[in-house]
Amino acid sequence: MVDAAPPSPNVARLDAVVAAHGARATELVQILRDAQALDGWLPPATITYLAHRLRLPRARVEGVAGFYAFLHLTPAGRYRVLFSDNVTDRMAGSLDLLDRLCTSLWIERGKVSEDGLVSVDTTSCTGMGDQAPAILVNGRAIPRMTPERVDAVAELIRAQVDLCEWPADLFAVADNVHRRDVLLDAIVAPGDALRAAIARGAREPERAGSARSWREGVPALPQGPAATLEEIKRSNLRGRGGAGFTTGLKWEACRTAPGTTRYVVCNADEGEPGTFKDRVLLARHADLVLEGMTVCAYAIGATQGFVYLRGEYEYLAAPLRATIARRRAANLLGTSILGQRGFDFDVVLHLGAGAYVCGEESALIESLEGKRGVPRNRPPYPVTHGYLQQPTVVNNVETFCAAALIALNGGDWYRGLGTPRSTGTKLLCVSGDCARPGIYEYPFGTTVRQVLADCGAERTQAVQVSGPSGTCIGAAEFGRKLAFEDLPTAGAFMVFDDTRDMFEVARNFAHFFAHESCGFCTPCRVGTTLLRNVMDKIHGMRGSQHDVDRIRRLNRLLQASSHCGLGHTACNPLLDTLKRFRPAYERRLQSLDFEPAFDLDGALARARAMTGRDDASAHLAEVDEDASAVAGRGQP
Ligand SMILES: Cc1cc2nc3c(=O)[nH]c(=O)nc-3n(C[C@H](O)[C@H](O)[C@H](O)COP(=O)(O)O)c2cc1C
Ligand code: SF4
Repeated sequence: MVDAAPPSPNVARLDAVVAAHGARATELVQILRDAQALDGWLPPATITYLAHRLRLPRARVEGVAGFYAFLHLTPAGRYRVLFSDNVTDRMAGSLDLLDRLCTSLWIERGKVSEDGLVSVDTTSCTGMGDQAPAILVNGRAIPRMTPERVDAVAELIRAQVDLCEWPADLFAVADNVHRRDVLLDAIVAPGDALRAAIARGAREPERAGSARSWREGVPALPQGPAATLEEIKRSNLRGRGGAGFTTGLKWEACRTAPGTTRYVVCNADEGEPGTFKDRVLLARHADLVLEGMTVCAYAIGATQGFVYLRGEYEYLAAPLRATIARRRAANLLGTSILGQRGFDFDVVLHLGAGAYVCGEESALIESLEGKRGVPRNRPPYPVTHGYLQQPTVVNNVETFCAAALIALNGGDWYRGLGTPRSTGTKLLCVSGDCARPGIYEYPFGTTVRQVLADCGAERTQAVQVSGPSGTCIGAAEFGRKLAFEDLPTAGAFMVFDDTRDMFEVARNFAHFFAHESCGFCTPCRVGTTLLRNVMDKIHGMRGSQHDVDRIRRLNRLLQASSHCGLGHTACNPLLDTLKRFRPAYERRLQSLDFEPAFDLDGALARARAMTGRDDASAHLAEVDEDASAVAGRGQP
């Protein structure tokens, strides 16, 4: 039996955890992760003790622990198995495998076994779309699940084999790089881009001089940083995390913002379902990522950097820390980098704990500060009021890689690649129905059709570009170009052949958004739940035209009143599939008239029989009040 009584905290071990993080409240998420590793969950006494040690209100510590999916306030089993639940995992048979594991271990999905040994459940996409279906066991990723691998996992759990003694090949994650261009092909020795940036300032003082006209009263930049910033601006590099903001302008705004300390944050949260390029960049090109961050620090005058790594990629943490340490030893991090007096910059790794919304840059900063990952009001933007309210650049992993290449080869070289409005190359994460899923690097402007041909996709019905928050296109649009001016993308490229039911694809995404809504603002919290319910109702063949209209009404509400991009984009996959694959919805609609989701009158039948009442007022009709009621409850 699971011991329900909270064990008393092991004070010495918790003290060691707190001490390892300098007893800093900003490290609360990391402290909770490490504390949880001691018992497999966070007992109430542990929360109380940590609150006491960090001098924080207990409610704050518990509130943070309760926010993140990978932190547990109740016992979760010594082995916690989570099946990745993206639509591509399902297409690869994840639900059958989950059932197989549950049957094999004699447990019910979502419950902890009676002996407290194991729990099995689902989680949002784990970033292994090219080797689906994937699972996490106590946070460790195991890709390419098959019935045989499920049986092997069940056996290891039954035998209570320590996770560190499980066969290494279970955890092997492949890179699956199928097309390389300037980024993946680049051979950059550690420090090369930095040396080029420093040398350019000395070589091209006149270009650096233009920095003086940025803003009145702001002191001129030293030549090296100014010339670096100038090259980034000339390159017209745009962020690879989704929004496509011009990187040079972001860096410049941060550089010129008033503040005592500047920060550089690498957004490696990579939570958008179907995206896994940052995983490969961090695994194989970590030096380039860190080089780009250091180039940024040089250009904006930052002294501290963070890599915010999604919890699902915990297996990358140790190698990344080793790369950081190696660069420190090589004087590529630390003080007086490459002998440049005053060029001081270091990087710390921060692990997320299972929250998609933490990819949003202001939520990410909140998480870095040891809080719940709730997006901030914007403006002010992180470039002026970021980490600890200081000027902060947040960029995607791929953006930093591109920045390092620009520092090395120059902005003119980079703007010669891609299209005028979308310079450079883009890494695509191809998954779903194709012969060769994996990473493909293309110059911007490449057509969807070209990618489909290269990855061996046949009889393709649809492509979901840039994940659930992106765009779903049908075959008529495969001539469109992957570029900010046509089809912008953060990288995900999910392929669906003509055997797939596009309604079910959209329903999976509706579940994703409802699950990942952080709940801070009512329109998104309730709106995404209503969307999910509408899709489930249609799935159950109980939908009507009224429900389809409701999706549109909810979209207007979410667009107008959501606090962050999650709410704004939650309806995208539904509207796109409705527009392009309407028959997939229509064949499920029971009628064109209103069909209630819940038969209220029927539910009251028993009460009527018991009371002997059958007059008109004993019969109730459901009122469809969702959108107006939600709107009435207002914004945050
Ligand atoms: C809900 C949500 C999730 C996001 N997730 C990520 C992410 O995982 N990685 C990322 O780089 N950007 C993500 N973004 C975008 C970031 O807020 C931000 O625009 C980006 O990190 C800036 O970097 P860039 O300019 O290099 O693209 C997300 C945005 C939203 C609204
Ligand atoms: S829109 Fe959704 S995810 Fe964003 S703050 Fe509101 S509730 Fe949270």
